[in-house]
Amino acid sequence: MTSSLSGKTVIVIGGSSGIGAAVAQAATARGAQVVLAGRRLASGRDNGLRSEPVDVTDAASLQRLFETVGRFDHLVYTSGPSVRAKHLAETDLVEAQDNFNVKLWGALRAIQLALPYLDERGSISLTSGQLGRKLAAGQFIKIGINAATEALGKQLAKELAPRRVNVISPGVIDTPAYAGLAEEQRSAMFAKAGSALPVGRVGQAEEVAAGYVLAMENGYITGSVIDIDGGGLL
Ligand SMILES: NC(=O)c1ccc[n+]([C@@H]2O[C@H](COP(=O)([O-])OP(=O)(O)OC[C@H]3O[C@@H](n4cnc5c(N)ncnc54)[C@H](OP(=O)(O)O)[C@@H]3O)[C@@H](O)[C@H]2O)c1
Repeated sequence: MTSSLSGKTVIVIGGSSGIGAAVAQAATARGAQVVLAGRRLASGRDNGLRSEPVDVTDAASLQRLFETVGRFDHLVYTSGPSVRAKHLAETDLVEAQDNFNVKLWGALRAIQLALPYLDERGSISLTSGQLGRKLAAGQFIKIGINAATEALGKQLAKELAPRRVNVISPGVIDTPAYAGLAEEQRSAMFAKAGSALPVGRVGQAEEVAAGYVLAMENGYITGSVIDIDGGGLL
């Protein structure tokens, strides 16, 4: 069967690392022309993947990205900040706002600027996280960002139709997001988080990438939140 991604142009904002990089690999393997975007990337091509620099906190940078790429079919947004877990009483709210600015406002900024270039038969896939519906003390930033992202995904699926809009909600996934932890600490954290799950382990970026591919390829999925969390929300 020919993949519906064959010959389609996919922009992955946040494609420079982790889940976004895995989505880029999966979409490329299914015949898409993928453009990766992130702050650490320069304009160029490597192994069939095109890359472009973008900072999602800067509207002019996003505008340049969409002007450079031109018409495209699917927008994938996986950019996310590194968030420190803290109780509200101890949180610097400017830092918290910066976190919202990358993941929530960055997504809205990107969607607004992408619309003139995004094919009407195309899709937008956003990223939330299990901390959005799984409540935990000290996690109000992630919970606020992710819950808002899921609400907006549904709202925008109505507002931007016939374009489809979906949200992928990962559980704990082994990506460079945890590179700040020492190796031993990281392994212990993954072992503990994994053992609490029905599947007995944390996830891999490729397993989450499959959810974005489904959201892009299946023309009957819109306004959905796709949980890929090893049963973390059960
Ligand atoms: N890993 C998990 O356990 C997990 C769980 C739940 C939800 N998630 C969500 O999944 C998404 C991807 O996470 P990941 O685990 O793949 O993390 P990651 O490997 O750290 O990737 C984060 C990405 O965000 C991009 N980014 C950060 N600030 C940016 C900015 N200002 N402008 C443009 N891009 C920016 C980074 O690119 P540059 O540095 O090149 O800018 C990078 O590509 C995030 O939204 C995260 O919250 C992850």
